[in-house]
Amino acid sequence: MLGIESTCDETGVALVRGRTLLADVTATSMDEFARYGGIVPEIASRAHLEALVPTLNAALAKAGVTLDDVDAIAVAAGPGLIGSLTVGTAGAKALAVATGRPVYGVNHVIGHVAVDELVHGPFPPSFIALVVSGGHTSLLSVTDIATGVVELGSTLDDAAGEAFDKVGRLLDLPYPGGPYVDRLAQQGNRGAIRFPRGLSAGKDKDRYRYDFSFSGLKTAVARYVESLQDEGVPLPKEDIAASFSEAVNDVLTRKALEACQYLGADTLVIGGGFSANSRLRELAQERAGEFGVEVRIPPIRFCTDNGAMIAALGSAMLRAGVAPSALDFSNDSGMSLSQPSV
Ligand code: KG4
Ligand code: ZN
Repeated sequence: MLGIESTCDETGVALVRGRTLLADVTATSMDEFARYGGIVPEIASRAHLEALVPTLNAALAKAGVTLDDVDAIAVAAGPGLIGSLTVGTAGAKALAVATGRPVYGVNHVIGHVAVDELVHGPFPPSFIALVVSGGHTSLLSVTDIATGVVELGSTLDDAAGEAFDKVGRLLDLPYPGGPYVDRLAQQGNRGAIRFPRGLSAGKDKDRYRYDFSFSGLKTAVARYVESLQDEGVPLPKEDIAASFSEAVNDVLTRKALEACQYLGADTLVIGGGFSANSRLRELAQERAGEFGVEVRIPPIRFCTDNGAMIAALGSAMLRAGVAPSALDFSNDSGMSLSQPSV
């Protein structure tokens, strides 16, 4: 299975055989965006256009195969930036026509979960997944990663990665803030400031059992920063980052593990760009025993966007006997999390 990823700023191409990864090559245009403080979609699309063929050739060479050896092609059809998606899907369709092989338009976010099978082996018959990225923070109930995914709930406002990026800006850190806030947080005191935990107590917790909210937390951090600045007090950036990170990760891990408890699941899979976060990884494993749940998180190189996650999901499609996508399938920038493929 050849997998192609181009939803945002990473051009990823990978090859897998069953659940075995043969090659995974990624090019990124992220460096071009630091000076803009955000991704410029047009620049990202053009970078995909330049990177796609060289990345494909590098992946084939690394795997020691040719296009003739490819049985099927998977490509991220959404969610993502429409221009970026178009480059990957047009490339995948062209390859499908040229090779006569089927093509699967698959869901990028579900790919973030699927990639874990390449590392930790086959999934159990049912499990809960927490996907956390720049655009998503959702809880999924999964029976089959290729055909049986139900979204239980999601963030009502900001995604966890987005909140980290915004707090990074408040603390004058480079873009994207997530990894910088994470690094700073490791040097601070997690208990220094008690920031709010959204939808985690009382009626809100019952009503929004599977949902998240981070906008109140983000505002609380902004107010705290402003009040110190007004008083002319230097910002304890490490403590702010650590206390903020603790609030986010406390809620993420608790809600995900409680979802397992409510639904009788004994496995939690965590994926998405934000699952690179050191405190999330630590806290999830720390609390797993308390809840009697096995927590599976892919290694960091499979957390950020890559081609392996798309190839892994494509491979699961083949195993489940899912029909390939029609060659004229559309990109879906807002693809639903309950839809693994087009
Ligand atoms: O999944 P991803 O690569 O792209 C999307 O599909 O959105 O996720 C990127 C997000 C960004 O918001 C980035 O700041 C965040 O993941 N991120 C982190 C860390 N590494 C990446 N956030 C916190 N701590 C990290 N170590
Ligand atoms: Zn992603």
